[in-house]
Amino acid sequence: MTSTDPYTAAHAAGDAIRERLGEHRVALVLGSGWADVVPMLGTVRDGVPMPELPGFPEPAVQGHSGMAHSVDADGVPLLVMAGRAHLYEEHPVPTVVHGVRAAVLSGCATVVLTNAAGSLMPEHGPGTPVMIRDHLNLTGANPMTGADPPAGMPGRFSDLTDLYSPRLRAAAAAAVPGIPEGVYAGLLGGSYETPAEIAMLRSWGADLVGMSTVLEAIAARHLGAEVAGVSLVTNLAAGMSAEALDHREVLATGKASVPRLAELLRAVVAAA
Ligand code: HPA
Repeated sequence: MTSTDPYTAAHAAGDAIRERLGEHRVALVLGSGWADVVPMLGTVRDGVPMPELPGFPEPAVQGHSGMAHSVDADGVPLLVMAGRAHLYEEHPVPTVVHGVRAAVLSGCATVVLTNAAGSLMPEHGPGTPVMIRDHLNLTGANPMTGADPPAGMPGRFSDLTDLYSPRLRAAAAAAVPGIPEGVYAGLLGGSYETPAEIAMLRSWGADLVGMSTVLEAIAARHLGAEVAGVSLVTNLAAGMSAEALDHREVLATGKASVPRLAELLRAVVAAA
C-alpha cells in the first residue's frame, strides 16, 4: 500500500479507476481462471493492468490476469477486476480488500464477488455455480479491525444480516431455475483442507469452502454496497471423493465452466 490509511489509498485508486476507465455502476471480482468470462459479459471497452492503479499488488497466482476492464454489460457500466490479492499470499488485509473499496469509492453501488470453491454438498459437484447465501469468516482476520474508519465513513460495526443480497439471489434464481444456494466458509488457505476440517465445517453449517471473498464482502458492505457472491464448484471438498485435490484441475474446471458462469453473471449484473 502506498499509504498507511487504507481508505485514503482506496480513494486514490477509485479516482484512478474513474480517470482510466470511467464510471461504473457494478463491480465484478473474478476468481481463479475466469478471465475468459470477460468478453462474454458484454462489450469490453477498455482495460488497465491492475498493478498500474495505486495500491494494487502484482498478481502471484497462476490463472489470474490482474486486469481491470470496463465492460458495457447490456447497458450496465461494469467494472471487472480479473485477479485478486489473497491472504495466503501474505498480503495484508487492507490490500486484500483494496480492490472492492476502490471500486465502491469510484462509484460502484453493487459488488459481485466470484470464487472457485470446494463443495460440501455431494449432490453439487464440479462445474456447478452456487449463489452464496451467507458466509463463515474463518480467516481469523477482518477488514474492520485497526484504526477507526476516518470521518465521513460509516463506523466499523457493520451489520452483516443479509450480507448477500436477497434481491440479487432472487434474480439469479429467476434466471437460472434451481440454482443452489450455500453458506461459504472462507479460510486463510494456502493448503486445501483435511477431511477432518471438512467434517467440522459441515457440522458448522458450511456448504462451500474457499480462500477468498469473505473479507471483500465485509469491506464492500461497510461502504454501503449491495453484495452478491457466486461460487463455482471446482471440486468436492477434501475426503468427499476418491481423487486428491489438484490446483491445475481447479483451474481447468473453472475454464470449462466459463459459458455457464457468464450466463449467470449477466443475469446478476442486469438485476443490479
Ligand atoms: N478448498 C479451499 N479452496 C478451494 C477449494 C477447496 O476445496 N477448491 C477451490 N478453492
